[in-house]
Amino acid sequence: MPAPRALRGRLLDFTADPAAAGSGALRYIEDGVLVMAGGRIIDRGPAAEILPDLGTMPIDDHAGRLILPGFIDLHIHYPQSRVIGAFGTQLMDWLERYTFPEESRLADPDVAAQMARFFIDELLANGTTTAAVYGTVHAAATDAFFEASRQANTRMIAGKSMMDRNAPPWLMDTAQGAYDSVKDLITRWHGNGRQMYVVTPRFAITSTDEQLAACAALIGEFPDTFLQTHLSENDKEIAFVREIYPWAKNYADVYRHFGLMGPRALFGHSIHLDDSEVAMLAESGAAAVFCPTSNTFLGSGLFDRDRLAAGGVKIGLATDVGGGTSYSMLETAGEAYKVLQLRRQTLRPLDAFHMMTRGNAEVLGLGHLIGTLETGSEADVVVLDARATPAMAHRMTAVDGDLEQELFVLMIMGDDRSVAATYVAGERAVRPR
Ligand code: GUN
Ligand code: ZN
Repeated sequence: MPAPRALRGRLLDFTADPAAAGSGALRYIEDGVLVMAGGRIIDRGPAAEILPDLGTMPIDDHAGRLILPGFIDLHIHYPQSRVIGAFGTQLMDWLERYTFPEESRLADPDVAAQMARFFIDELLANGTTTAAVYGTVHAAATDAFFEASRQANTRMIAGKSMMDRNAPPWLMDTAQGAYDSVKDLITRWHGNGRQMYVVTPRFAITSTDEQLAACAALIGEFPDTFLQTHLSENDKEIAFVREIYPWAKNYADVYRHFGLMGPRALFGHSIHLDDSEVAMLAESGAAAVFCPTSNTFLGSGLFDRDRLAAGGVKIGLATDVGGGTSYSMLETAGEAYKVLQLRRQTLRPLDAFHMMTRGNAEVLGLGHLIGTLETGSEADVVVLDARATPAMAHRMTAVDGDLEQELFVLMIMGDDRSVAATYVAGERAVRPR
């Protein structure tokens, strides 16, 4: 357990959703102190109030910088760190040409362990302290991921990808085999320290009816696990789903039919939905996860945030590395803004920073643990510098102390260079050399 430590700087978090509560949802202390002990936030407030009680406790001085809850990424693939920026294809060809061959390498547990360590270091360098993570089909590779996360003491939500058709034979499991190995992984990892399990049928195309039914059985047996998959990302994908599930009303209906839609389910992309699919997501309490850098890079389409929000669908934000092109939730928010511009919609900086922190935590039902700087919360923290590069510092000379403009500069120009420090459960994360 790390020694007690305090952080001094500009504390910023949210107590509600600014889309509903306006700027009253924002909690900002210009000269604040956050006190961390035992992995949790034990006190917070104006420096003038907190400092006199700290005695000899070490204080990290982040004067001028913003101290926020660590970012949360709701959809990312840890085996795809070497696939980012693969040229020239859309989803189905991209999977076949680049992604499946790369994921095959993780059959070797040593490769998986090395990939997991790189991945977690990279997330932390970008200020992301929790993510919903896809593994490969190999159970040992998901073990390797949880082991790396346990060592970093990060709160991660991860699962083995389940695939029993329409994939290379060496990347396939079976309905029963996947059920058995996922059950074993859940038993060993879900709720083990900070680790949590997410049942992960890759998408409707790569699972048989039997395997989707096995997923429902698993979430029935372990109701506090999560479910994640892909939904309605790309036109060829949607046509394929229609072909192999001719009885289904639409793509979302496949997941609904097998009992996979519920309040703990995360549906990556959710771009090309018809009205009944929007209603299905809303009624079940499932979340649509917006992955903007992936959707533009793979040419998948433009997420319709306003339509889904008006339909009552919960919405999360994510990188989707390696279809996505950046680990940075700041860059992801910047790209989300641009996607919504093309839709004649907008993303205000307060809404973006809420999504990256408390909003994504609430989507997971974990708002009592992560996503805010509330006393009692887990001490996962990111420290941001809006003047990190010459171009940003120059831009900031035109931002006259306006906090929302500063946040917008961070999401449009920021990346890992703007992350001055990341703390995991109260301890500063330092990248190994
Ligand atoms: N659909 C099924 N698998 C994947 C994947 O790995 N990345 C993306 N973006 N979409 C998928
Ligand atoms: Zn994905």
